[in-house]
Amino acid sequence: MGVIGATGMVGQNYLRLLSNHPWYEVTYLAASPRSAGKKFSEAVAGRWLMPTPVPEQYKDLVVGDAGNVKEAAGKCSIIFSAVSMEKEKIKELELAYAEEGFAVISNNSAHRHTQDVPMLIPEVNYDHTNIIPIQRKHYGWSTGLLAVKPNCSVQSYVTPVHALREAGYFVDKMIVTTLQAVSGAGYPGSSSYDMLDNIIPYIGGEEEKSEIEPRKIFGKIEDGRFVYDDSIKISAHCNRVPVIDGHTACVSIHFKDKKPEMNEIIQIWKEFKSLPQRLELPSAPEHPIIVRHEVDRPQPRRDRDMDKAMAVSVGRLRECNVFDYRFVGLSHNTVRGAAGGAILMAELLTAEEYIK
Ligand SMILES: NC(=O)c1ccc[n+]([C@@H]2O[C@H](COP(=O)([O-])OP(=O)(O)OC[C@H]3O[C@@H](n4cnc5c(N)ncnc54)[C@H](OP(=O)(O)O)[C@@H]3O)[C@@H](O)[C@H]2O)c1
Repeated sequence: MGVIGATGMVGQNYLRLLSNHPWYEVTYLAASPRSAGKKFSEAVAGRWLMPTPVPEQYKDLVVGDAGNVKEAAGKCSIIFSAVSMEKEKIKELELAYAEEGFAVISNNSAHRHTQDVPMLIPEVNYDHTNIIPIQRKHYGWSTGLLAVKPNCSVQSYVTPVHALREAGYFVDKMIVTTLQAVSGAGYPGSSSYDMLDNIIPYIGGEEEKSEIEPRKIFGKIEDGRFVYDDSIKISAHCNRVPVIDGHTACVSIHFKDKKPEMNEIIQIWKEFKSLPQRLELPSAPEHPIIVRHEVDRPQPRRDRDMDKAMAVSVGRLRECNVFDYRFVGLSHNTVRGAAGGAILMAELLTAEEYIK
């Protein structure tokens, strides 16, 4: 297993989460030419941001150049991609890794709307992995594949809405206001002078992602490509707030026709389980949705780490004066929304034998 962008915020989270993984072992690390050639411990000296020290097994690994695909050859079969580069360069690079035979699992937005690339939340649209044989045929890959994660805040509201859809209650309109942590911008991100005592009501490109990506996730495969679900309309406001980790979403929902009772919604959320739970994937939370009953929860500091930081916490379900209901969703952006969510995708693809 290799991590490209290993020195960054998401890359470090991969290494932390994979250091004791029961199925996978990290054997290759890469980053920019600035870090290439250094031992990993030197490359991250002074900028290791995880709450636990650099795992021993990575300290002496020599960092490769993520831009040089051949360097990874023979060292791993899965590539987790978390590089920060121009979108077009990431697109080319990820295809080049897949062409070389790697299973590429990406956090980047570059390929989220590529027609035969699945954008997965494993509990929601696990059936979208059915595109992989079509993708392989299209590109002529045998072992290579490319699958991407959606934006880091999307699961906070898409998972609870999916659970309702699965129970027969179709949300057709949503207004989502996100309160996004500073770690979402990588390190060092916004300056402390900009963030302390402040809220920034703009995150470039984030509102479009929050509105459009769920339509692909709720979409279906037809004629070898994804057809987006245009029955759901979302209006998003995205804000950067002075929280370290954990993206919150304040959500108002409107149902297309029949509307569930409030206690029914709570029951649906509490009982919701999906394929990752049935397959007992190592990173799957036992309960993908945790319902909080306190009037002032979920809160980032108290709830982001629930169930390996992989669960979405929801609370404050109440009637809405404009739509039908309102609630607050919260999930850990660099774990569930990035590295942890991507590892869960790899586990699903491994369990389905797309990755050997
Ligand atoms: N932070 C989040 O919550 C989050 C969530 C979901 C998705 N993402 C996405 O994940 C990606 C990484 O985010 P991040 O927050 O981890 O960023 P970051 O902390 O800035 O780390 C960026 C990584 O990319 C490497 N890199 C930079 N320029 C490169 C180049 N020219 N060639 C190869 N590698 C290069 C860096 O290596 P050096 O250390 O050598 O410079 C570093 O390893 C971004 O696309 C981001 O949008 C982030």
